[in-house]
Amino acid sequence: MNFQNQTTKNPNVKIGQAANFPTIRPRRLRISPQIRAMVRETNLTPNDLIYPLFVTHGRGVKTEISSMPGVYNMSPDMLAEEIHSVAELGIPAVLLFGIPAEKDPIGLENFADNGIIQQATRAIKETIPEMVVITDVCLCEYTDHGHCGILNVGGQNRPNLHLPEGYVLNDETLEILAKVAISHAAAGADIVAPSGMIDGMVAAIRTGLDSGGYEHTPILSYSTKYASGFYGPFREAAQGAPKSGDRRSHQMDPANIREALRETALDVAEGADMLIVKPALAYLDVIRTVREHFPELPLVAYNVSGEYSMLKAAAAQGWLDEERVALEILTGIRRAGADMIITYHAKDAARWLQNA
Ligand code: PBG
Repeated sequence: MNFQNQTTKNPNVKIGQAANFPTIRPRRLRISPQIRAMVRETNLTPNDLIYPLFVTHGRGVKTEISSMPGVYNMSPDMLAEEIHSVAELGIPAVLLFGIPAEKDPIGLENFADNGIIQQATRAIKETIPEMVVITDVCLCEYTDHGHCGILNVGGQNRPNLHLPEGYVLNDETLEILAKVAISHAAAGADIVAPSGMIDGMVAAIRTGLDSGGYEHTPILSYSTKYASGFYGPFREAAQGAPKSGDRRSHQMDPANIREALRETALDVAEGADMLIVKPALAYLDVIRTVREHFPELPLVAYNVSGEYSMLKAAAAQGWLDEERVALEILTGIRRAGADMIITYHAKDAARWLQNA
């Protein structure tokens, strides 16, 4: 068919004329893999990835998390091998979550010298000192009630505030967060990452770190963290599900984006060095908007547990091509504006990128 000579209903208009066809043909730049690679706008490299690890007490423990195939709970002695493989794949950093031996109302192990994260951090630093160790700073894995802060129980902490029963107390929690961050830095953590969405957490941790002599330890703040159903599998992995209630009194409403700018501005003013938007997939617009409003700070997106599990489940059924879709998702998160991505797919992705 010769489209050029074929006319539309109006004999004076040729097909494609208004769009400058045939002069302009975008397909010219898609003709070969080489040209496609030359004009690719977004790149994804292992250097952009951060790999989360779940560390638990014991020896020789490596238990797969049932809802997250390929992700394990590991004891500190199992970390050396894991860290070597992470480093060999060119992934610069790991993000540590700890499962304590015992839980209590305030989470004492969280800031104990021999706590699980402190042990894990030392083990990793002894194995590969260059591996960047980022530690999650929150209470939920450590408290017996599973909440991210100290709770208002029977109104005893602040009787005259009339806060709801079980409310996560803000300022009381800040003191603990500062202690935890100092303890992680003392164990050798390179970066601390507060994830509780407690007001003032960045300032409290900055002050704490500075007073402890850790003024060079950066804070990677979970500045925009939504109350998301996508954290389900993580809560199995970290055994950090709230025993009652939910996290909506501190994590953000998924419907809000202007509030993300407010939260981010506050964390920047309090001294955050890097920012997080979490989760990633249902929040690509938030990543883009935060990127545009805060161009001077590195931005990290958290491709969370549920996002990983969804793809794993579909791939196990043969419904989706895991490699292709995972790399498409990670590229999409980068294209939205994230500099780095925390992802359970980090090792797989690095391997796929190396073989590409
Ligand atoms: C809290 C924390 C959570 C995640 C990271 N840090 C759970 C929560 O807020 O309930 C979720 C990460 C994921 O789903 O992959 N310490």
